[in-house]
Amino acid sequence: MSAPVDSERGGRAIRIGIIGFGEVGGALKAGIEKLAGYEVKAAPHDRKLVRDVVAWGEVIILAVPLSAVGEVVKEMGESAKGKILVDVTNDFGDEPPVKSRAEELQANAPDTKVVKAFNTVFARHMRTGKVGGEAISLFVTGDDPDAKRRVMNLGRAIGFLPVDAGPLKNSRWIESLGVLNGKLGYGTSNYGADIGFRVIGASA
Ligand SMILES: NC(=O)c1ccc[n+]([C@@H]2O[C@H](COP(=O)([O-])OP(=O)(O)OC[C@H]3O[C@@H](n4cnc5c(N)ncnc54)[C@H](OP(=O)(O)O)[C@@H]3O)[C@@H](O)[C@H]2O)c1
Repeated sequence: MSAPVDSERGGRAIRIGIIGFGEVGGALKAGIEKLAGYEVKAAPHDRKLVRDVVAWGEVIILAVPLSAVGEVVKEMGESAKGKILVDVTNDFGDEPPVKSRAEELQANAPDTKVVKAFNTVFARHMRTGKVGGEAISLFVTGDDPDAKRRVMNLGRAIGFLPVDAGPLKNSRWIESLGVLNGKLGYGTSNYGADIGFRVIGASA
């Protein structure tokens, strides 16, 4: 769909490039392509398409397995320079890592602005930001205020209630929450995926 005028961009739509076209990539693409003010393209596991989408996008969402992040960072190369990189990964290892995966990504891609978001949400709710019709929280961390604000605005446009969760260092806590979400859904509790977190009283 063609995106109408977005005042923040002086009339241009914001270009969202998604790397990885699985559950998360597919859901976010479906959620974003119906939004005014945004254009979206998604690349499957194909080196050339990944490079094309990274070169095209202003905000790049890495919707790939944790194990593929390093490879994608290499593939992105120079064309990711200066861009916002959204990390959605969760680490289901036995022990929480000392440093968050988002901080590791920032160290591996120092010329980008890493923002952590969407990791605490089951993919099926990423089209609408809602569970059973009720908006859920989107926890967002990042060290670049403008990059974080832009991802929060994207989340709000989808239908989430964005929560400013502080600097990128705080990703270690929302990464734990992402793992807890997975465990509540399919691990120790088996509530299923129709669940979501909501912070009462946080309005951003
Ligand atoms: N599913 C959820 O509910 C959920 C919720 C929150 C966060 N997450 C996180 O989101 C990320 C993606 O999860 P998912 O459930 O969407 O996984 P998925 O369904 O397995 O999709 C991952 C996609 O990434 C592609 N991919 C792998 N390596 C790639 C590469 N080098 N370049 C481009 N694409 C590549 C895969 O393609 P091939 O299969 O062809 O290799 C696949 O299409 C994970 O880090 C996960 O922890 C998932």
